[in-house]
This record gives sequence, C-alpha cells and structure tokens, in this order.
Amino acid sequence: MALLDILLYPDPRLRKQAKIVEVVDQKITQLVDDMAETMYNAPGIGLAATQVNVHKRVIVMDVSEHKNQLMVFINPVIEEETGDTEAEEGCLSVPGVVAPVRRAESVVIGALDREGRPFKLEAYELLSVCVQHEIDHLDGKVFVDYLSRLKQNRIRKRLLKEERDSSEIDRHNKVVVY
Ligand code: NI
Repeated sequence: MALLDILLYPDPRLRKQAKIVEVVDQKITQLVDDMAETMYNAPGIGLAATQVNVHKRVIVMDVSEHKNQLMVFINPVIEEETGDTEAEEGCLSVPGVVAPVRRAESVVIGALDREGRPFKLEAYELLSVCVQHEIDHLDGKVFVDYLSRLKQNRIRKRLLKEERDSSEIDRHNKVVVY
C-alpha cells in the first residue's frame, strides 16, 4: 500500500473526465487499496481517483462512525435520484473550505465492487451527498463549481496564495471532507 498525493484546487487535472474501468484487475485493486489508505490517512470520508491524478472511474468512501466500513464504487452510475437537499460539503482537494451545496436527497447507484461484482445501493443522507460529490470528481467537477463566482474566485485566490507561500496547509481541522 502507498499514500498517494492529492491534487489541490484549482489544479487543472481535477477537470479531466475519468474513463470507464474495462477490467477490474490487480492494478485496479491496488489503486483501490492505495486510495483507501490515502483517504483514511487524510482523513476524509471519500476520495475519487481523479483527486490522485488517476483518471479512471473509481471511488472509495467510508461514512461510518468508526471508519471500518470501506465502500468501493467502480464505474458508478446514478440510476435514480429523488428529492433535493442542502448539506455542508468539504473536499480533500479544497482544504479549509466548507460550503452548502444543493443535491438530490437520495440516489440509487449501480456500480462494481472491489472484486468487479455488480451491485446496487440506495443512498440517503451523508452517503447520498458523498457519492454524488465523488461522481462529480470523476466528471471533472469540484463542489466549489456550485458556489457563486465571487466565492469561487475568493477560494481560488486563497488556495493559490497558500501554495505560493508553501505554508503547511492544515487538513486536519475539519470534521467532514470528501
Ligand atoms: Ni472532494
């Protein structure tokens, strides 16, 4: 297992469209394991392959209280969505920023698991918000895209300045990061 580097907004590589995984082989399971380790280490509750500069449709998540229920989504597709809701979101690629985003309240997801077996999942609440957030990453979207232009510019300037100052960014001062 290995810790992977997480791309930071506004890195243009976060805009790449991830490709379908054709075969769930040992390379993919290795990626899943490295992504899980990286997510738990950050710490975060979700990570998309795009965020570690691998442009394949792979997501890892763990929204459990004790961080012992790893979920793996390969080639995830939103098959149904119901209602709408607003929740505070954060992101490992946008450290220090939390903002409300409107999304579907619940979704039905079809995907493959770590062994390449298809499954379906009805997701509610945090799980629903998180999986929608991660699928956005695979499509080159970041949650700040939903905010006003003004807020987006402010966030971009702040993160670019932090990068320039090469100051240590504290990624551990947030409760929930995706
Ligand atoms: Ni994120």
